[in-house]
Amino acid sequence: MNVTIWYNANLVTMDSEKDYEIIERGALVIEQNKIAWLGEEKALPKYYQKEATYINAKNRFITPGLIDCHTHLVYAGNRARDFENRLKGKTYSQIAHEGGGIHDTISQTRAASFDDLYDLSLSRVHEMIQNGVTTIEIKSGYGQDFDTELKQLKVIEKLKQSLPLTFIATYLGAHLLPNEFVSNRQYLDFCIKQVMPELHSMSLIDMVDGFCENMAFKAQELEPYYLKAREYGLPIKLHAEQFSEAGACALAAQLKAVSVDHLEYLSEENVALLKKNDITAVILPGAYYFLNETQKPPIPTLTQQGVPIAIATDCNPGTSPTTSMLLMLNMACVLWGLTPLQALQGATIYAAKALGLSDRKGRLKVGYDADVVCWKISHPNELSYFLGSSLCEKVMANGCMVYEKN
Ligand code: NIG
Ligand code: FE
Repeated sequence: MNVTIWYNANLVTMDSEKDYEIIERGALVIEQNKIAWLGEEKALPKYYQKEATYINAKNRFITPGLIDCHTHLVYAGNRARDFENRLKGKTYSQIAHEGGGIHDTISQTRAASFDDLYDLSLSRVHEMIQNGVTTIEIKSGYGQDFDTELKQLKVIEKLKQSLPLTFIATYLGAHLLPNEFVSNRQYLDFCIKQVMPELHSMSLIDMVDGFCENMAFKAQELEPYYLKAREYGLPIKLHAEQFSEAGACALAAQLKAVSVDHLEYLSEENVALLKKNDITAVILPGAYYFLNETQKPPIPTLTQQGVPIAIATDCNPGTSPTTSMLLMLNMACVLWGLTPLQALQGATIYAAKALGLSDRKGRLKVGYDADVVCWKISHPNELSYFLGSSLCEKVMANGCMVYEKN
């Protein structure tokens, strides 16, 4: 049996909803790709010690691998020009209406070869790994035609096959009305009748997402699209209440979605709806910051009502050109008042929940996947505190070492 033992470690297990649950002078035993044992080093059972490979954590802190539960990282080009135009006063939705914004990324992603798109995506994934990320959700949605949506999902498939990380592939057909379609209805029909069934039959889709917003698709329009996803048993996510209250949460509750994401315009009433339906709130501080928004998601109410809050990068060229989960933890604390504990929970236990992976990811726990990160810190609150430092020393994903700092 292939056994690896991390020792001389402070284990931040996250195995509770109340605290970091730190085990000092701990050891963590990995058998194959799972956590087989953890506890105080002095209690380490003898039978693991025989032919194990040892990793000295040098009294550093070990956390579960971080989970980025909302990204659009498969894209070509960038939108630095949109960024300049916004600085001159144009809004995100004005730029989109004038044919820039998402449309621009769609054109560039359509034009990119599979190999170029793969290389671009792989380098973003490597940046994420160096920031302690071992699970990444990635959406399509920069194709909006069959071939490009397929190309994006095949890039994700190749990432799954090439790296020991865990990837979740989300079909985001309902992102924006592409130029060649005249109505939302006609385009969504195309997604429902042709694209989703074909991509699903190729087993390329793990989840389904849509952009529920006045500038994109209305809740009512999205209902048949999501019902198709449900027919296939695919878990549902929504880009919800980002720029306005657009009825996304009511639809999410009706469809038993796993998460609603963004939520700047989430009403108090809808917070209760999320709680009642056990839906995770995914907050994306990078997009709020980058678009210079002022309307904040109702974090105090979400916290009071006990709605699980996950944090993600939203990695995309238009609203959040970042691969850094640590930067997002800092922004969630500084901009929106989360505590460092809440922020780390948002990148571990609740991010796992947003992906339906609570039974195997997000905690250091026996039987869970061996996603383990060793950090050069002296308390887990430093993960939210430092701005852009490289704190990560070693990263193990599903039992394989994927990063070691020189
Ligand atoms: O999550 N809101 C819609 N989708 C992305 C942005 C996509 C883009 O601007 O390219 C988001 O912010
Ligand atoms: Fe997004």
